[in-house]
Amino acid sequence: MENSIGKKFTITSFGESHGRCIGVVIDGCPAGLPVSETDIQKEVDKRKPTSPIATTRAEAEKVEILSGIAGGYTTGAPVCLLIWNTDIDSTEYERIRSLPRPGHADYTAFIKYGGFNDYRGGGRFSGRITAGFVMAGAVARKLLEYINVEVLAHTVEIGGVKAAKKEPDEIRAVVEKNALKCADAKAAEEMLKVIEQAKAEGDSVGGIIEGIALNVHVGLGEPVFDTLEGDLAKALFDIPAVKGVEFGSGFSAAGKRGSENNDPFTIRDGKIVTTTNNAGGILGGISNGMPIVVRVAVKPTSSIAVRQETVDMVEMKNTTIEVKGRHDACIVPRAVPAVEAMMAITLCDFALRAGIIPEVLK
Ligand SMILES: Cc1cc2nc3c(=O)[nH]c(=O)nc-3n(C[C@H](O)[C@H](O)[C@H](O)COP(=O)(O)O)c2cc1C
Repeated sequence: MENSIGKKFTITSFGESHGRCIGVVIDGCPAGLPVSETDIQKEVDKRKPTSPIATTRAEAEKVEILSGIAGGYTTGAPVCLLIWNTDIDSTEYERIRSLPRPGHADYTAFIKYGGFNDYRGGGRFSGRITAGFVMAGAVARKLLEYINVEVLAHTVEIGGVKAAKKEPDEIRAVVEKNALKCADAKAAEEMLKVIEQAKAEGDSVGGIIEGIALNVHVGLGEPVFDTLEGDLAKALFDIPAVKGVEFGSGFSAAGKRGSENNDPFTIRDGKIVTTTNNAGGILGGISNGMPIVVRVAVKPTSSIAVRQETVDMVEMKNTTIEVKGRHDACIVPRAVPAVEAMMAITLCDFALRAGIIPEVLK
């Protein structure tokens, strides 16, 4: 089960960066959901590299539905979605096969799989596997439409440049128009400069993505071991390069007083709500009906052109490496659709477990 996640809405990831394909199998998707290749393609296109900051790997990323959808509707059978890899260049990876690239999984995978792992382009550890997450996320988002739940994600920080706080309406309106997927246009310009500077120096930068889920029902989450926070965090940590996940006030809560951090309750339009949302929409591992707000820290791209120390794992000697090839100086914008996808997939799983989404849609 190491390549699967979820209990009722289960996704299984397969494929490698430089293998034949990248794909996903969804099990447990209710029958009767209208889904087309175009619906899924629309989401996958959001993760395409955006010049001038991104990789020059020019994948067509054409989505194919292999099973589980007939006549435009899910059938209740496993849904298999696939993208063929077309633009593969593994030359560089042959040269550095025994030299683990710092920041990558080359060393840990070499030890764990005895050198049999597909090392080309990072194999199973490549960011490319998130294409499968995004395909499954597209189906999950369509399911969430049934219960009026919306998931949004946007870039809030890159290379230390922070975006101003924006409301969901502004995020929705701007995020897809901007190469950095940042709703603060002024900050986005600064972020771009920081990325270009790092790139010119053969280096890279990281950043933070904020994910928001709106209109989530009260009561999703299964304490104590399947809390909504726990499962969302697990799903988000499955995105390569994610090194931190915090909900609501997150780590800053540690420095606050209870009187600042507690979210007071009030009745608004006949509904119980909180006047602030430091909890990020989750109390006791259960959704409280406020927006779920999660921030995801993405590390700087590991593949950098500057010379770094490494070892030759076969000859067991110290050496250096300069990673050539096609890499993003900042992967944050490309990880934004993956954050949306993993949130949607997890919320779908919980909504199905709670019986809020029926098993047959009519
Ligand atoms: C969409 C996406 C694209 C990525 N592209 C690259 C890349 O071009 N170069 C790189 O060094 N890392 C890239 N990564 C991150 C690496 O796959 C990841 O850092 C590496 O496999 C080690 O895993 P870890 O950072 O989770 O420990 C990407 C990640 C994502 C989500």
